[in-house]
Amino acid sequence: MGRDLKFVVIDSEENSRNIIKNYLAEIDTKFAEPECFVEFFDFESGTDYVLKTPECIVFIDISESPKNSLDTIKKIKESSKSAIIIALSGKTSTDVIIKAMRAGAREFISKPIIKTEFINTISALLEDIKDSSGKDNSCKIISTFSNKGGIGKTSIAVNLAVELAQLSKENVALIDLNLQLGDVTTFLDLAPSFSLNYIAENIDNLDETELLKILPKYKNTSLHVIADPLNIEESTDITAEKLKKLLNTLKKSFSYIVIDIGTNVDTKNRCALDMSDLILLVSVVNLPAIRSTQRCMEMFEKIGYPKDKVKLVLNRYLDNDDIKISDIEEAVNQKVYWKIPNNYLTMMSAINKGVPVNEINTESNISQNYMEFATKVSDYLITKNLNKNYNL
Ligand SMILES: Nc1ncnc2c1ncn2[C@@H]1O[C@H](COP(=O)(O)OP(=O)(O)OP(=O)(O)O)[C@@H](O)[C@H]1O
Ligand SMILES: [Mg+2]
Repeated sequence: MGRDLKFVVIDSEENSRNIIKNYLAEIDTKFAEPECFVEFFDFESGTDYVLKTPECIVFIDISESPKNSLDTIKKIKESSKSAIIIALSGKTSTDVIIKAMRAGAREFISKPIIKTEFINTISALLEDIKDSSGKDNSCKIISTFSNKGGIGKTSIAVNLAVELAQLSKENVALIDLNLQLGDVTTFLDLAPSFSLNYIAENIDNLDETELLKILPKYKNTSLHVIADPLNIEESTDITAEKLKKLLNTLKKSFSYIVIDIGTNVDTKNRCALDMSDLILLVSVVNLPAIRSTQRCMEMFEKIGYPKDKVKLVLNRYLDNDDIKISDIEEAVNQKVYWKIPNNYLTMMSAINKGVPVNEINTESNISQNYMEFATKVSDYLITKNLNKNYNL
């Protein structure tokens, strides 16, 4: 954001527009001058203006006509990557805030507007965007982990990443951290020219446009894949330090980073686990797997991860399994967060064709389940962020 930054208010209440103008003037008098401050009482003319204006912070009142206002936020976000949207509403339930965030709002300010809240939010936002060219730093890292092989980590990472991209329409990165045995590219039938070691090595020299260009995209989605090294020997080039730097840089360009982590806890995997906002600890319903999961959970507790960072996911779940959910929860000392049904045919067909399950059959139980899973994960992460920012 540079000198041409505009503050655009789209709000039918004149009083509310004036309050925003006055509070902006308190941050900096030039923010309320006509070359910087523009106001509209209707969505249509406000949107037209925003879409023609390269750099703007847009305040949109969503209390009066929620559907129309959320559609406006979506339209602006889809057409203008640089616009930063702040939703305003007299209704402050978590549901309202989540809907605004999901539509594309970056911040939420409650009405009637409280001066200190407004000034703090806008000042922090301006500070935040000063060095990051307007990038939202609310990227979330989700990893799939288990210390057992063949349990479904890759299937979950791939299908969840595709669903998150389709749900959010925002940039999602899927990283294969199985450095010698990765199969994310097989699951999505991609043949990338550049893999993790090249990206990690060159991250300082790649701007966002170049980065997005060289990372293969899954069909016409916003999912970009960072594959495991093409040659096994190159896997040792990737250190935990390089991975940390890579993830921190990727956070500026992606809304979600999904990492398919290997089964062991070496320094690289530990770095990815540490940096994750959410670890999906995958298990299946059989005794050896549950024992391993129990050990993993104990390890995460010893490391000191907060309880809400690790969620237990049961894969290949059958309703009539011998072992009861309550027994698993007792053994692992954790509630089951999500269950993915066993559907061998759809899963195998998806892997063999190199597509996500939703392309085999959208109506299948597993496709529906992954759609709901992505919504739950994204709602959870948005709420977690809101709790931090808005003390809900
Ligand atoms: N929900 C499911 N229903 C039926 N089969 C499944 C399901 N999820 C995964 N599978 C099957 O389980 C097998 C292992 O899955 P996947 O490769 O995702 O596991 P993984 O934990 O990543 O394995 P690895 O440790 O080898 O990387 C695959 O053949 C896949 O088809
Ligand atoms: Mg795997």
